[in-house]
Amino acid sequence: MINKGKILVTGGTGYIGSHTCVELIEQGYEVLIIDNLSNSESFIIDRIEEISGVRPKFYQFDLLEADKVDTFFDENKNLKGIIHFAASKAVGESVKEPLKYYQNNLMGMVNLLEGMKLYGVKNIVFSSSCTVYGQPDSLPVNESAPVKPAESPYGYTKQVNENILKDTVAAVDHIRGIALRYFNPIGAHASGLIGELPKGVPANLMPFITQTAYGLREQLSVFGDDYETPDGSCIRDYIHVVDLAKAHIIAIERLVDGKNTDGYEVFNIGTGNGFSVLEVIKSFEKTTGIKLNYKVAPRRAGDIVQIWADTKIGNEVLGWKAEKTLDEMTSSAWTWEKNYRESASQ
Ligand code: WQD
Repeated sequence: MINKGKILVTGGTGYIGSHTCVELIEQGYEVLIIDNLSNSESFIIDRIEEISGVRPKFYQFDLLEADKVDTFFDENKNLKGIIHFAASKAVGESVKEPLKYYQNNLMGMVNLLEGMKLYGVKNIVFSSSCTVYGQPDSLPVNESAPVKPAESPYGYTKQVNENILKDTVAAVDHIRGIALRYFNPIGAHASGLIGELPKGVPANLMPFITQTAYGLREQLSVFGDDYETPDGSCIRDYIHVVDLAKAHIIAIERLVDGKNTDGYEVFNIGTGNGFSVLEVIKSFEKTTGIKLNYKVAPRRAGDIVQIWADTKIGNEVLGWKAEKTLDEMTSSAWTWEKNYRESASQ
């Protein structure tokens, strides 16, 4: 297992973080994880080791603990780069608890960048979101589309953090950054050992589908089928979490290899295809053979009607392209849900 150097993954026990750790290890990197376990479980470290054969070094603390961030950098002076996932990410919760989101997501980013500045760490990939676009004026949406007023404090923290990173790159010579604007990550690693593990009632579509199918939820509510879309339900660009994880490896290597032309770059990470809620349900039923119990419910406040990515820049500049299909996303999500519930009940 060649050692290409140390990469810090903040939020590495989370959904996208854990999948990215697996890909990093398989590409020969030594992975360090900082996570406060506020929205993930420590057994995910065991699963990363089980999949990749290597156990990442795990530091359990919060990025708001500036002294611990400093100690971490002091103890790990030769970091090749950082992939920063750690943040609160529930849209609905952010409306109810904005201060938690502004403190956690913004101050966590500031503390991390302060550490990079002080200890000479050069490269950072930041987990951003298509939510910065709001409802785009035209589709597919590309990276130069206007950033619109955020629909939630969560979305606003993504916009602000992109600017914090951009301004820091402009002010600090040695720091270079890439923001990846994710569309809707769903699915799970083929092993069924890691996947989406929302705490409490899932806000997002895919975990609500798999929990309903498993019998943990009575019925899925489809939030509206009277939108201006072909089947009336909202359209999103769903992307397999493994395709998304692979994009992070390419982005951090672009920085490590000094290939990024501007100090700060932004890329859409989506498939370029939009699927409706009803199409996702149909795919799930097809790949699993399960008839899903759902009903049409009123629209959800804050939902945009439709969005999907223009992936040209990511394809050409990053040399990255999503490969997995919607069916692979829905079937892998179900495999994970079944495996997790069955292993949890033992
Ligand atoms: C998708 C579609 C819902 C649940 C948000 C954030 C994004 C990212 C992912 C964090 C919508 C419909 C959902 C349900 C439903 N956040 N839906 N019934 O809102 O597109 O994106 O979550 O990583 O940044 O903006 O994702 O999965 O919540 O909703 O009908 O029980 O599914 O109305 O049309 P969303 P989602």
